[in-house]
Amino acid sequence: MAILVTGGLGYIGSHTVVELLNNNFEVVIVDDLSNTERFILKNIEEITGKRPVFYPFDLKRRELLTQVFDAHHIEGCINFAASKAVGESQLKPIDYYENNLFSLINILQEFKERGISNFIFSSSCTVYGQADKMPIDENTPLKMPESVYGKTKQMGEEILSDFAKAYQRKVSLLRYFNPIGAHPSAKLGELPIGIPNNLVPYVMQTAAGVREKLNIWGNDYPTEDGTAVRDYIYVVDLAKAHVAALQKLMQSTSEEALIDIYNLGTGKGSSVMEVVKAFELANIVEVPYQICDRREGDITIAYANADKAERELGWKSETSLEEALKTVWEWQKYLETRNTEIKL
Ligand SMILES: NC(=O)c1ccc[n+]([C@@H]2O[C@H](COP(=O)([O-])OP(=O)(O)OC[C@H]3O[C@@H](n4cnc5c(N)ncnc54)[C@H](O)[C@@H]3O)[C@@H](O)[C@H]2O)c1
Repeated sequence: MAILVTGGLGYIGSHTVVELLNNNFEVVIVDDLSNTERFILKNIEEITGKRPVFYPFDLKRRELLTQVFDAHHIEGCINFAASKAVGESQLKPIDYYENNLFSLINILQEFKERGISNFIFSSSCTVYGQADKMPIDENTPLKMPESVYGKTKQMGEEILSDFAKAYQRKVSLLRYFNPIGAHPSAKLGELPIGIPNNLVPYVMQTAAGVREKLNIWGNDYPTEDGTAVRDYIYVVDLAKAHVAALQKLMQSTSEEALIDIYNLGTGKGSSVMEVVKAFELANIVEVPYQICDRREGDITIAYANADKAERELGWKSETSLEEALKTVWEWQKYLETRNTEIKL
């Protein structure tokens, strides 16, 4: 009995694979290496002492996916595989719809045909847009996302809700807030591929001197210090939530369709400026920055109410922002020892 982890060599996927292996799950990874590197597999093995089965191919290739389902007794799936760069999704909408939705549908075809249940989907707080009130709980109305990327997440959720209802399957939609940090071993983290989309990798590269200055997009938001506020969740805590969500799905004896939705965040908002200052303090480094105009599509504030996950999954975020930011710097040092090329 194995769990298929798509995108399992990516940032959140690799941390989750470690937690699954530590909890004695058998793991089968499919990842086409489009946004990661093969050494992550070796590092997962070094951390856990176990080597998961790995297939390097694109999930859009249904015939190869069918072979994986033929070869293994797949009992559930955590589907991380997706393209995730918001800006790029605006420039390449069809590629994004194709990659994020065709991959999903191919897996669901296999699930449908083989009667498999237990599907976990990586969704995002982007489905809420700029929510009218904080904190955001799961009953907060969804808004049409501004980006194609966000739309693929909302469409993914709808496809999965229809799938669960029509075929009586169990599905968990996990809405992540802003994942940050690296594994405490410093052997897993967010790889420096392309210009970082997210704040923390940018901060890391600026502190390391790879980038001259951090651009802070707007300091005239209606927040305490004028910079935008987000909910930064440590990636290992996030990975553990997947194990809890999977265990809940697998233990559910209901014959009915089951659609679980959970916000995964810390419940605390931090401004861009707070993150920069916390990074400097935690790691005794300097992060040069400049204030720029607001960026189109950025919202002012988003932080989670994650009480439902605590109540139903027994999960809550445990790691402070400062602790998480320390792991980021250790990861950067590890990348330097490996001479990992940072693609500017
Ligand atoms: N990182 C975030 O800030 C964030 C926030 C909310 C939601 N998410 C979602 O979480 C998931 C994981 O994000 P991440 O940050 O780990 O991204 P990532 O890019 O590090 O990982 C995704 C992995 O999927 C692989 N992949 C992509 N398309 C594939 C395909 N067609 N076939 C096989 N493999 C493919 C990539 O090579 C990569 O290793 C994504 O679905 C993302 O949209 C991420």
